[in-house]
Amino acid sequence: MQSSEIGHAAQLLREGKLVAFPTETVYGLGADASNPQAVRRIFAAKGRPADHPVIVHVHDANDLARWARDMSPDVERLTARFWPGPLTLVLKRAASVIDEVTGGQDTVGLRCPSHPIAQELLRVFGGGIAAPSANRFGRISSTTAQHVRDELGDSVDLVLDGGACEVGIESTILDVSSGVPTLLRPGRIGAAEIESVIGAPVTRAGAQSPRVSGSLEAHYAPQLPLLLVASIDLDRVVREQSALRPVAVLARHARPRDSRSALWQIAATDAQAYAHDLYALLRFIDRSGCSMIVVEAPPERPEWDAVRDRLMRAAAASSSSLAREGAQGTE
Ligand code: TXA
Ligand code: MG
Repeated sequence: MQSSEIGHAAQLLREGKLVAFPTETVYGLGADASNPQAVRRIFAAKGRPADHPVIVHVHDANDLARWARDMSPDVERLTARFWPGPLTLVLKRAASVIDEVTGGQDTVGLRCPSHPIAQELLRVFGGGIAAPSANRFGRISSTTAQHVRDELGDSVDLVLDGGACEVGIESTILDVSSGVPTLLRPGRIGAAEIESVIGAPVTRAGAQSPRVSGSLEAHYAPQLPLLLVASIDLDRVVREQSALRPVAVLARHARPRDSRSALWQIAATDAQAYAHDLYALLRFIDRSGCSMIVVEAPPERPEWDAVRDRLMRAAAASSSSLAREGAQGTE
């Protein structure tokens, strides 16, 4: 990418415009994190409720004091080990952080992305960039520049194209704003890795955790209803559903010769490769003409936590529409 394009992007941010940019996880929809009108434009573009907090992206850990206060010693250990990289830290907000960014809460989410285009944009812009994932509210995140254009069209002023995102799913979110480090969203960086750095157990988010829109059931959902099915039940469910409608299958092994599914998509057997491809595959299947996605449940091992989390949310978001359909007896 030309440095003039990054310079242009930084200038647009200064003017209060929206710039979508690649990170190592997913594409972000960025605005100047110090400009309330600009941040409000993010919510309008995404169709997202205005009281949801957005992550502020920073160039490096030296910027922390500008955004956060009362940081525990864990923060230095975590940033030294994982930044730049796919870890978002929720911290007590500094007094100057605007309510549009925090959703009115006393905390702020901070992340230092490692993607070279994101790094360069942050360096040239010189401030923090507020950026949620670059998708419409409730939809799956964008992992290519084309996905961003498909999702947001003209409501974004510039899309920086950095190709396909390496990680493919959103960052790990760790709340270290209180004495109890709490995992709000699993990601590439796992709980065990974090525990080894802070030397203490990490709590999983419970019912009283702060507002995280990624925690809503309706999140990370493709357009088609999605069924998440244990490997042992896959053949039976695909047979039953295929009798009713064209079914797409996402599985980690080849199509059995007698399968009646309309589409059989093989996914990676390695968790990181699976995550890298997941959203692009779901978008592809959404456009396939099938009317349901049946996904083989991932293994119960920790390295699959983040993928399992996204698939369970997608399945939960679908279950209400499937239940409605069942009640009406339609096919
Ligand atoms: O990988 C990522 O994190 C991507 C890239 C673009 O950096 N960003 C992303 O942003 O996934 P978003 O807004 O789609 O998801 C961030 C989640 C949201 O669910 C938001 O509610 C939560 O982080 N969040 C942000 N600030 C928070 C805070 N202060 N307390 C609790 N949750 C917060
Ligand atoms: Mg998002």
